[in-house]
Amino acid sequence: MKAVTWHGKRDVRVEEVPDPVVQQPTDAIVRVTTTNICGSDLHLYEPLAAFMGVGDVLGHESMGIVEEVGADCGELRVGDRVSIPFQISCGHCWMCERQLYTQCETTQVRDQGTGAALFGFSKLYGEVPGGQAEYLRVPQAQFTHIKLPDGPGDDRFAYLSDILPTAWQGVTYAAVPDGGTLVVLGLGPVGDFACRIGQHKGYRVIGVDLVPDRLERVRARGIEVVDLREHESDLGDTLRGMTDGRGPDSVLDAVGLEAHGSPVTTFIQKAAGLLPAAIAAPLQQTAGVDRLNALYSAIDIVRRGGTVSLSGVYGGAADPMPMLTLFDKQIQLRMGQCNVKRWVGDIMPLLTDDDPLGVDTFATHRIPLADAPDAYRAFAEKRDGHIKVQLKP
Ligand SMILES: NC(=O)c1ccc[n+]([C@@H]2O[C@H](COP(=O)([O-])OP(=O)(O)OC[C@H]3O[C@@H](n4cnc5c(N)ncnc54)[C@H](O)[C@@H]3O)[C@@H](O)[C@H]2O)c1
Ligand SMILES: [Zn+2]
Ligand SMILES: [Zn+2]
Repeated sequence: MKAVTWHGKRDVRVEEVPDPVVQQPTDAIVRVTTTNICGSDLHLYEPLAAFMGVGDVLGHESMGIVEEVGADCGELRVGDRVSIPFQISCGHCWMCERQLYTQCETTQVRDQGTGAALFGFSKLYGEVPGGQAEYLRVPQAQFTHIKLPDGPGDDRFAYLSDILPTAWQGVTYAAVPDGGTLVVLGLGPVGDFACRIGQHKGYRVIGVDLVPDRLERVRARGIEVVDLREHESDLGDTLRGMTDGRGPDSVLDAVGLEAHGSPVTTFIQKAAGLLPAAIAAPLQQTAGVDRLNALYSAIDIVRRGGTVSLSGVYGGAADPMPMLTLFDKQIQLRMGQCNVKRWVGDIMPLLTDDDPLGVDTFATHRIPLADAPDAYRAFAEKRDGHIKVQLKP
């Protein structure tokens, strides 16, 4: 089959790889009909390259049709239409019983000290072949799927595997009080959806980014935006000025480890990137790969006693944290990979013909799998309006 494979920093290719086969009774094979490129793939494209292997199949936002099931796949049947959550979880362990699917004790990657295995997401998360491919092997398939109705096109459900639940969890963790204000940092696909969800829930929402077409897209839905290019040095004061001088109740960081405007860690990342992977990987894990600018902004912007929610992925360990400010402002901080199936019941009722979240028109590009390398480049450079790219294998 054809698949998008990782070959090096900023080097992904589409090539022939062996078809996946059922290896365990709990495996299923899905024929992928739509699979998206995610902001998280960009971390693998560049800063987390040290954790990738040449030939790794990328992708963790897939949906399609079940082609084959192992003997122990529960209710899942050949021919079912499914979305595949980006994390692999069993559904019956202690963590899964508590709906902490990203911490599944059956699939935790213990040799790396990380949580549940993820599709297409580096050695840190089990090096499981991903779904930017014609076919996907789904381990723990009895639970790692969301059944979809037939009828509406793929656009309707294309974001259930990751970014829609991620935005939902991010907004939920932001704990915005009734009638309160939510600031969303970063208006990529995750931040954009978070703004729409916050608006749907009746909060005042203010989005921040520095890419004109991303700002415009959110503004067009009647959401207030602040252009970081105009407020690089006074973002906190600007947002306090818009919120009675106090600051917003909640801030969601939908930027993550590649934030614009953090020169020191950019240097460390670049330097680590020049080292062989065996040396760079431990350095990046301990010395910090993160550019914390967005997180620092969030801590500054949020009002005293407010909540900061992190959806953006962070990875380092030794970056300095402004503990005095966090403590003094009495800030609550919540974060983590999204426990996808935890939120599906809340989101499904919004995926209707009247489309309150605008999922049917959310993708900016729908392209053949073969064009993935160009799309990765364009999305990484935030060029030509590349906001959400669907690949059609
Ligand atoms: N927690 C999860 O389960 C989960 C799931 C999916 C994605 N993510 C993470 O969420 C983050 C966003 O994903 P995406 O697909 O929207 O990515 P993206 O890269 O398209 O979006 C990031 C946006 O942040 C903007 N930005 C950069 N620096 C900024 C700053 N200092 N202040 C404000 N905005 C800034 C960029 O211009 C860009 O538009 C990534 O870190 C991704 O890995 C997490
Ligand atoms: Zn994703
Ligand atoms: Zn589990």
